[in-house]
Amino acid sequence: MSDLLTQLETLQHEAQSALTTTQTREESEAWYRDYLGRQGKMTAVLRGLGQLSKEERPMVGQAANVIKNVLETALQERQALLEQEEITRTLSAEGIDVTLPGRAQQVGKLHPTTVAMHEMIDILVQMGFQVYDAPEVETDDYNFGLLNFLPGHPAREMQDTFFTTTPDVILRTHTSPGQIHAMREFAPEPIRVILPGKCWRNEDVTARSEMMFYQVEGLAVGHNITFSDLKGVLLNFANKMYGEGRRIRFRKSYFPFTEPSVEVDVDCIFCNSKGCRICKYQGWLELLGAGMVHPTVLKNGGYDPAIFSGFAFGMGIERQAMQKRTIDDIRYFYENDARFLERVS
Ligand code: PHE
Repeated sequence: MSDLLTQLETLQHEAQSALTTTQTREESEAWYRDYLGRQGKMTAVLRGLGQLSKEERPMVGQAANVIKNVLETALQERQALLEQEEITRTLSAEGIDVTLPGRAQQVGKLHPTTVAMHEMIDILVQMGFQVYDAPEVETDDYNFGLLNFLPGHPAREMQDTFFTTTPDVILRTHTSPGQIHAMREFAPEPIRVILPGKCWRNEDVTARSEMMFYQVEGLAVGHNITFSDLKGVLLNFANKMYGEGRRIRFRKSYFPFTEPSVEVDVDCIFCNSKGCRICKYQGWLELLGAGMVHPTVLKNGGYDPAIFSGFAFGMGIERQAMQKRTIDDIRYFYENDARFLERVS
């Protein structure tokens, strides 16, 4: 009998240490089959019961039951431990560490020119102007002739205009040819349109001029339209664009397609026209060119200048953006340096 009890005790120790080496639920179940299963080692030892006396058998049987219970409890504990370890492993593998610093998202933005253009369009649309799309590639006639440029006008010279390989077809040097397109589409109805878009001039690229730039053109044609209307529209525009209380001033100028022609300035938003670096100590910032539509241009557009009158204005978009945001070099706009684009818009 003592031999059997010793065997059981040895088996218990062996089983206990084997249990600590199991690493998964499957391994622990295999361990159960090995030691406590019907074909297991415990069963094998208990086969020796047959050789014992009737009195001895229950004692050994009881001892075997105690060991079996101990081992089963040990198995449950082991399995609970393995499960806990598994959960911890998954959590640390898949879990979110809320203490990690966030990753910056790259967010796309509108180009500074587009931002300024939208702003200008919004202001003018509120005043009743409609956006009219005109071509960027024009004939010499639309860009110059129909706008009353005389044949020898300096702006027609080679150094200003980009020509194409097709005779007479050029890249527009300003948005004013759109005036003719709009008038010809709507005459003799009164119109109020704005024409935003790209222009090209074959000029040296400097801090103040690019070969490609944007303008917004404005045109109103109707009955009894006067210079006062132009003044009112531009003063309102300056107040909406640069802040309430702004003043504008008119300087006489010359454009072939307007008569009279003016250049319009707004008082410097940075120094209130006291004079500063931004306005180059002038007290004023250049806003745009404008005037009353020349009778010849009205006629070319299909309106009778004896009945109709109108005003027009045209302004550089980059220039407005530069003045509002104190950007001192137009070349930044199209160099596509992300540091500039991100800072500005
Ligand atoms: N087209 C002129 C320019 O490019 C601006 C302008 C437009 C002036 C309309 C008068 C009227 O400088």
